[in-house]
Amino acid sequence: MAIVSLKEMLIEASKEKYAVGQFNANSLEFIQAFLQAAQEERSPIIIGVTEAALQYLGGFSVVSSAIRSLVKEYEIHVPVAIHLDHCTSVEQCVHAMKAGFTSVMIDGSHLPLEKNIRLTQEVVEAAEKFGVSVEAELGRISGQEDDTIVDISEACYVIPEECQRFTAETGVNCLAPSLGTVHGLVKGEPNLRFDILEKVKELTSVPLALHGGTGIPGDHLKRAVSMGISKVNVNTENQILFTQTVREILISNQDLYDLRKYLGAAREAIKHSARQKMCELGSDGKA
Ligand code: 13P
Repeated sequence: MAIVSLKEMLIEASKEKYAVGQFNANSLEFIQAFLQAAQEERSPIIIGVTEAALQYLGGFSVVSSAIRSLVKEYEIHVPVAIHLDHCTSVEQCVHAMKAGFTSVMIDGSHLPLEKNIRLTQEVVEAAEKFGVSVEAELGRISGQEDDTIVDISEACYVIPEECQRFTAETGVNCLAPSLGTVHGLVKGEPNLRFDILEKVKELTSVPLALHGGTGIPGDHLKRAVSMGISKVNVNTENQILFTQTVREILISNQDLYDLRKYLGAAREAIKHSARQKMCELGSDGKA
C-alpha cells in the first residue's frame, strides 16, 4: 500500500465524509513527524512540498526518495501521497512526476479563467501518462506562502459556476476553491463562506480542498468537512510550533549544543499536533 495517488485517497474520503490532511514539509524532521503521526493514527496522509521547500531540501528526487525510504524504514502501512504544492509551471510539475511525486497542484489562479483552464489541461494530460493526480485552484486565496504574497485586495471568492466549467473542461482530480481562508497567519477569524461551498459542492463532483488550514477554528473546520471538503492543507501552524519549541529549549538551556535534542523535541511537538489535526478531520482510523 503506502505510496498512492491523491485521487484514490480523496475519492474514499469524499465517500466517507472525512478529510485527509496535507501537511507541508519544511525539513526532514517534518516528514518524519508526519509519517509517524499518520501511522499512529492509522490515517492516510498527504505530504505537501512547495517549490521553495524543495529548493531548501535538495530537489524533487531527494524529497521523493526520502519519503519513500522513511516509509520503508518506519514500516508505514497507511496510504501516503507525495504532493507538489502550488506550482505555477508545467515543466516543474513534470519534473515532480518524473521524480516519483504522486500528485501535483498546478496553480493558475492568478490567470484569467480561459488561461487557467488551458494551463491545467496541459498538466492533466502529462499527469495521465504517469498515473499522477492533479489539483488546481480557482478564485484567489490571500495571504503568504513562502515568497508568494496575495494581498487581500487581490483575493477573491470563487464563482461556483466557474468551478463547474473548470472541472468539466480540465478533468482535475481535486479542486481548491477560494472560500475565504488565508495562507499563513490570520488576523481574527477567516470569513469562510459556507454558502459558496454548498453551491460549489452542488455543481461539481471532484473532491474539494481547503487551503490555509492554520487559524481555522475547529468547529468551522468540522462543518466544512461535513459539507464536502475532502482535503485540508496545513503548514504555518506547524512551523510556528516547531520554532517555538526550539526557541523555548534554547532560551532555557544556554549551553545546549546537541541539535538532536531541540530538533527532536520540536519534531515530537508537531507530530502530536498533526495527530490532533487528523482526529479533527476525521481521518484517524480510516487506514
Ligand atoms: P497555512 O500555512 O495557512 O496552514 O496554509 C497551508 C496551505 O494552504 C498550503 O497550500
